[in-house]
This record gives sequence, C-alpha cells and structure tokens, in this order.
Amino acid sequence: MSLQETHLEEALVRAQEAVRKAAEEGRGRLRGSRTPVLAVTGGKGGVGKSNVSLNLGISLARQGRRILLLDADLGLANVEVLIGSSPRFHLGHVLSGECTLEEAVYYGPAGLGLVSGGAGLSDLAAFGPAAVRRVMHSLEKLSQGFDLVLVDTGAGIHPQVLTFVRSADYVVVVTTPEPTAMTDAYALMKAVGLQDRLVGLVMNQARSREEAEQSYSHLSSVCSRYLGTKPVYLGHIPADPAVPQAVRAHAPLVEFAPQAPAARAIAALAAGLAGSWLWSHFLAGAKSPALPPEPAKSGGTGGFWRRLLAAITAGDSHG
Ligand SMILES: Nc1ncnc2c1ncn2[C@@H]1O[C@H](COP(=O)(O)OP(=O)(O)OP(=O)(O)O)[C@@H](O)[C@H]1O
Ligand SMILES: [Mg+2]
Repeated sequence: MSLQETHLEEALVRAQEAVRKAAEEGRGRLRGSRTPVLAVTGGKGGVGKSNVSLNLGISLARQGRRILLLDADLGLANVEVLIGSSPRFHLGHVLSGECTLEEAVYYGPAGLGLVSGGAGLSDLAAFGPAAVRRVMHSLEKLSQGFDLVLVDTGAGIHPQVLTFVRSADYVVVVTTPEPTAMTDAYALMKAVGLQDRLVGLVMNQARSREEAEQSYSHLSSVCSRYLGTKPVYLGHIPADPAVPQAVRAHAPLVEFAPQAPAARAIAALAAGLAGSWLWSHFLAGAKSPALPPEPAKSGGTGGFWRRLLAAITAGDSHG
C-alpha cells in the first residue's frame, strides 16, 4: 500500500468513526423539515465538479442518506453523460408544464435522485415568474423527502452560476493545483463572498498530498489576505487515470473502480462530510468539530429555493 493509500485509509477510518459517533448522538435523525443545499462549484471548467458531485452523491447515498442531485450546468447535462443514462424529462419539461417534477426525478446508482437541468436551466427566467415560482415550490417540496440536495453548477462566474452558489447553504469549491484553476477558484470565492457562508475546498487532480496541501495553503493565504477569511480544506483527490476511464465508460467512478485512489478519496470526503459539520448541524446533539454550525447568513438553511426564486425573478440570473 502506497503512502497516499495509507493516508486515505486513515482518513476513511477517522471519518467512519466520526459518522458512527454522530449517528449515535443523533440516531441519524435530521432535525427540522428543511433540507440543506450544497452547491459544488469551481470557477474553471473541467476541474472535476461533475465527477465530484456525482460520486460524492453516490457515496453519501451508500451511507443511507437520501441525496438529490440537481444538475444545474446550463443545459449541458454533464451528469447524465457520466451515468450513461438519460432521464426522460428534465427541468425544462417541468418548467414548460410537460411533466411534473416527480416525473423528472431519475433514480440512479445507490438510489441517488437526479434532476437533470437539460435545456431548462440555461435561462430560467425566460419561463416567466409564475412557472419559475411553481417549479421552485415543487423543488422545495421535493427536497423535503431528501437529506441533502447537491447542486452541480457550471463553470465560470456567470450570474446564473453565482445565483445558485449564493443561494446555497453550503458551498464546495473544486479546484486543481494548476495556477489557472486556483486563480479562477479565487475569483469565484471573491464573487460569492466567503464571509457569509460555509465554503469548503477540494483540491482535485493533485499529483501528491504535499502538492495539494501546498496549493491549498497558498490559496488560503491569498484568501485570508484579500478576503479576510479562507475556505475550509476538505481534502484532496489524486490525479487518477481511473477517472477518465470511468468517464469514457459512462459509469460513475465509485462504481466503475471503487478501489481506485480517486474513488477512495471521494468516499473519504463523503464520510468526512457526513461525520462533521454538514450533518452535525442537523443531527440532534452533535457538535461540529471542524466548522461553526452556521449556514449561509442570507436566510438560513432551507431558504435556498426562495433565495433562488427571488434572485431569478429579480433578473439576477441574466447576463
Ligand atoms: N481526479 C482526477 N484524475 C484524473 N482526471 C480527472 C480527475 N477529475 C477529473 N478528471 C478529468 O477531468 C474531466 C472533467 O471532469 P468533470 O466533467 O467532472 O469537470 P467539470 O468541472 O464538471 O467540467 P465542466 O466545467 O465542463 O462542467 C473528466 O472527464 C476527467 O477526465
Ligand atoms: Mg461539469
């Protein structure tokens, strides 16, 4: 076993222990009826947002969590391509009234619920405020049947991406150690505002643990200096040929090659998230070891759909 694998193994064991403790303390019951929304974003294109969202979603679902993944990637339907199936309906059909939101939910690996953005999300506002309001209310209602909603966003800092990210309760920024990706991640964090929300950072496609940690350290010191605060380091995912192999096979990495280093890193990330701040906010009595249990200040956990609706109908998603 390589040094990196040993580290991953240790992280997994620690995270599993944290999950067990949190579940014991709270008996796995989620408090409150509102479901938190976590946006996976990144700034630069191709850094691994969709692979992280999908495989994180499946890993969390395997732990018995009910996860809904909303593919908000501007009509590019990345997630569908990664799982190799195309749901019959997407959000565009729901917006135009061709189907109900329930009909548009596709249940994939490990029972992960997927709502495809299809062509629907490229310009939500174009469907008119009444349709958007109806769909946001349906999404809010649907999300109550889940423990967590993951939103896979598109690349860049376009207004529509920012609308989703700013509305989310929690944000995970995916970057790679490449300077261009880090610059874009910084620009995104600056645009989103680090002060008002919990932002975690994942260093993907790292050649080594050291490279990942050094890159995070560099990025976080720039954030501290210019933004007054820094993202929380959630860990790294190694550069791994199994990822493009899984993509080419149209199979999620954690199913295609569960023992591959990147798959194990994502599973460890899921276990870490499940055992720490994210769930501890909802688990009765559980304490957050890593982060203050505060969701986005702009409205509290669960206000996502309302914040999104307000932003879209105010024209915030245009541009
Ligand atoms: N850990 C990794 N190791 C090796 N290759 C990776 C890794 N993560 C991602 N990739 C490669 O990067 C490509 C892009 O990944 P993905 O589609 O998840 O990125 P994205 O950020 O969602 O892209 P977009 O901005 O286009 O939505 C994948 O097809 C895969 O080949
Ligand atoms: Mg993507």
